[in-house]
This record gives sequence, structure tokens and C-alpha cells, in this order.
Amino acid sequence: MKIFADSADLDTIRPLAEAGLIDGVTTNPSLIARSGSDFLDTVGALAAMIDGPVSAEVAATEYDPMMREAARLAQIAPNVCIKLPLTLDGLRACRTLRGEGRETNVTLCFSVTQAVLAAKAGATYVSAFVGRLDDINIDGGALLKDIRDVFDTYPAFRTQVLAASLRSVNHVSAAALAGADAATMPPEIVTAMARHPLTDKGLAAFLADWERTGQTIR
Ligand code: E4P
Repeated sequence: MKIFADSADLDTIRPLAEAGLIDGVTTNPSLIARSGSDFLDTVGALAAMIDGPVSAEVAATEYDPMMREAARLAQIAPNVCIKLPLTLDGLRACRTLRGEGRETNVTLCFSVTQAVLAAKAGATYVSAFVGRLDDINIDGGALLKDIRDVFDTYPAFRTQVLAASLRSVNHVSAAALAGADAATMPPEIVTAMARHPLTDKGLAAFLADWERTGQTIR
């Protein structure tokens, strides 16, 4: 499963990229607003920092302006993945961009039928929002499993399932168990994935015992 950082904060993404922990980045207008940084500059810096896809979302809602914005975002770097809302205009833009050989991420997917349309439009990724469904007491993990089952049933669908809106390491586990191709999460969840209290406890015991041996590794 690919791991993407869901953030527009260069300083928190950089160490994850340097450690080889992430395969890409997803941004959205809210993350850009939160970062207070210039959108195009940020996408350019991220695209230079990461080998993998950097999702950058159009702000237009109608096909023609969407395509103009997509063309501008595509100029930034070859690894910019054009993020489009799951609307009729977004799906149309997705189909056109697919024809031009661009990678796309169709976002704000909350149902199997929406995912089917994204796949038929040739999306590279469809972002299924797990956390926002859980927020309203609908099982976001079940949606991932259902989309996985449908995509596996129809091999012509090449779209990758991207688990998005993840709020905890439990959400990441659910995404992996559901067979998501990729999961995007805030940087702090990427680091939290490595943590376990028994790892810390075990390491402390090993270090204490090692200290008692008086040895060094040379
Ligand atoms: C996905 O690409 C979105 O940027 C993101 O996962 C949304 O997460 P949120 O529901 O926590 O805002």
C-alpha cells in the first residue's frame, strides 16, 4: 500500500520524504489555506521533494475553467497529479486529462457508485473519504472494502483506491485490510504508525541489558 502525506506543510513533509516513508503527497484547498502558503509555489516545492505523485486540486467547478486550471497545474512538474471533485464536470475533465496522459485523483468520493463513475472516467486514483463518513456514523472502512470488491470484479477498472480522510492509525489498518492501493494521512499519523508502547518498553530493556555487558560495537 502506498502512503501519501495529506498536507501542504513542507517542513513536516520533508523529514518523511527524506526517511523514504512516503510515496506521494495530497493537498486540498483547505490544507493550502491552513498552511498560509502560495499554492503554486507549494506544489512546485513538493513535486521537487517527492518522486511520486503530488495531488493538486482545481478550484473551478465547471469544465472549461477546470481544464484551464488543470493545464496550469500540469505545467508545474510531470509528477503533479490533477485533483478533481467527483462532480459531472470533474468526471468529464478527468476523462479528457486521462486522454492527455495526465494522472488524476478524483476526490470527495463517498459511495460505490461514485467510485464506479471515477473508474469509468479513467481516474488514476479515487479518494474515498473514510473519516468524514465515520463522522456521520457511516462505516468508511466498509466503503473501502466495497469499492475494492467492485474494482476487483471488473478488471477493466484500473483506478487505484485511495483511502483518504484518515484520522488515526486504526483507519490506516482498516485501509490496509480493505486492500486500498494507497492511503493518505496527516504526517503525524505516518509517524504514529511506527509507534507501539511495547516497542519502546522492549527497546529500553535491551538498552539497559546492553549497558550492563559493558560492551561496544566497533
Ligand atoms: C484527501 O485527499 C483529502 O485531502 C483529505 O484526506 C481530507 O481529509 P479530512 O476529511 O480530514 O479533511
